[in-house]
Amino acid sequence: MSARPGTALITGASGGIGAVYADRLAKRGYDLVLVARDRARMEAVSDRLKGVGSKIEILVADLTKENDLSAVEARLGMGDISLLVNNAGMSLKGSLLENGGAEISKIIALNITAPARLAATAAKAFVKTGQGAVINISSVLALAPERYDGVYSGSKSFLLNLSQSMTAHYSGQGLYTQAVLPGATRTELWERSGKDIDSFPIEMGSEQEQCGIVR
Ligand SMILES: NC(=O)c1ccc[n+]([C@@H]2O[C@H](COP(=O)([O-])OP(=O)(O)OC[C@H]3O[C@@H](n4cnc5c(N)ncnc54)[C@H](OP(=O)(O)O)[C@@H]3O)[C@@H](O)[C@H]2O)c1
Repeated sequence: MSARPGTALITGASGGIGAVYADRLAKRGYDLVLVARDRARMEAVSDRLKGVGSKIEILVADLTKENDLSAVEARLGMGDISLLVNNAGMSLKGSLLENGGAEISKIIALNITAPARLAATAAKAFVKTGQGAVINISSVLALAPERYDGVYSGSKSFLLNLSQSMTAHYSGQGLYTQAVLPGATRTELWERSGKDIDSFPIEMGSEQEQCGIVR
């Protein structure tokens, strides 16, 4: 029997793409640390995976809050995590012109500050042991700023840039970094931001369950 691959910490694991990662990784033998704000929904994800054989831990955290983000950094730094999936993210409700400082700061905190800090914490731990992986969920919009508001697409460009830089600097030290650029995917992100997924061309779209995990 082959050894289990380790423990994956997934942010935004209470629904959408993050819950699909939880499902796929558990079925590949990973133990999981699920991170999001909604405990009940993470428990539902965990319940669906009963019988798969993975240990599943739930860590409730609002990644836009300093104390919660620090707690997730501390969990990552405990030394038993081998894979970080930086997935939690949001989109603005309305356009750049319709949002104020609080909303812009919040999306930057969730889409840029949190994944950058978690990637840095994971990278330090993984480089020390000479192995580990970081998956950053970017977006196809990182390459198409004209199609969306630039705060969201810019946050996704940031993750693509960060991933490329991490690969360039640390792949030789055992750190594998992957940027994932999903097309429009039918999840609650659209509803939460009051936008219509069907306004996107079909060739840019997919269903939540079609998210591939490539490695
Ligand atoms: N859907 C798309 O078309 C699409 C396309 C390309 C890229 N993406 C990216 O894919 C990732 C996942 O998005 P999704 O479509 O699956 O969206 P989703 O269904 O809205 O899920 C977002 C996840 O992030 C969590 N989250 C939101 N705010 C949070 C906060 N402040 N602190 C901690 N967790 C928080 C949510 O959980 P709680 O509410 O429980 O906290 C949820 O688990 C995002 O980074 C998004 O930008 C999505």
